[in-house]
Amino acid sequence: MMDLIKKAEETHELSRDELIALLNDGQYCEELFAAADNVRQKYVGDEIHLRGLIEFSNICRNNCCYCGLRRDNHNLTRYRIDIPTILEMARHAQNLGLKTVVLQSGEDCYYTRERLCNLIREIKKNGLALTLSIGERNFEDYQAFRDAGADRFLLRIETTDKELYLRHDPGMSWDKRAKCLSDLRRAGLEVGSGCLVGLPGQKTETYADDILFFKNIDADMIGIGPFIPHPDTPLHNAQSGSLIMALKVMALTRLLLPDINIPATTAMETLAPDGQAKALQSGANVIMPNITLDSYRRHYELYPGKTAVGGAPEDNMQRLKDKISSLGRQIATDAGSSKHFTNRQNR
Ligand code: 5AD
Ligand code: SF4
Repeated sequence: MMDLIKKAEETHELSRDELIALLNDGQYCEELFAAADNVRQKYVGDEIHLRGLIEFSNICRNNCCYCGLRRDNHNLTRYRIDIPTILEMARHAQNLGLKTVVLQSGEDCYYTRERLCNLIREIKKNGLALTLSIGERNFEDYQAFRDAGADRFLLRIETTDKELYLRHDPGMSWDKRAKCLSDLRRAGLEVGSGCLVGLPGQKTETYADDILFFKNIDADMIGIGPFIPHPDTPLHNAQSGSLIMALKVMALTRLLLPDINIPATTAMETLAPDGQAKALQSGANVIMPNITLDSYRRHYELYPGKTAVGGAPEDNMQRLKDKISSLGRQIATDAGSSKHFTNRQNR
């Protein structure tokens, strides 16, 4: 195992079988995390990039079996934040010292290309970097978002096992999702993807394929989160994903894609009070503090426990700063584009 970890640390290449061997191993997790931490330091440094997350609509046309926002969940109060309030939250993020905001929502058709482009243009006037996380759209939409000033886009593939994807995301198409990822790249956006860990039916083989998929699409950012069952979904009786397995998938992603941005995800922090710190010491270099006003935020319940992470933005910022310095790390002062993205632009 140590030979494999060394190989990954030095060459950033592993075969599918080698990935599976490391994912199945229970003995060398700490060594794997330490190797990912070294590679993180060598390629992207000690700085941690903060992204202010604004959850601007929890309305979704899709019905993903794992997600609390699925359209068949009628126990959820739905909301859509109006544009002036979104702009106010973005300004608030900037006042807190954040350099990037992430606009996230369910797949909400109210936000047409035109409405979103207007919003993007307004936000960009303040000089913030802007990431969208709003689901599947056509190429022309992605291009228009880029032209309006959007910098980055997050769209997790969730799992690369097509059969599993169909089972957990009824009515959606894996090929269409993969096409969206290549459209995003073609539109010139920085591309983020990622997967869930611990969905019923996922195996170590699946995670190995997920990691190779990330490498194959040449991703700029990858977010990995353990699955957490939501009581108002078809998967309410399923087991939670394992934090350790999620950290292993994340650490291996860092080893194979050394210069990308990787967040310590909220789902990791939800599963364990030290989940975020552990992630930051196992390959992660990004945190996404939630700056959505609490009156909305408590309804953005993708999974239980999520809405409690962090607390009010101001208190959370101070706590984050303390946590980051206790890990011997610093908060970045620039917008923190993916080094992988800038390296590719310069090639
Ligand atoms: N547990 C963990 N993550 C979830 N997501 C949705 N539902 C859950 C859940 N029950 C994740 C998906 C989606 C992201 C916004 O939230 O991976 O892409
Ligand atoms: Fe909608 Fe995203 Fe939840 Fe699926 S995971 S139901 S697309 S918000």
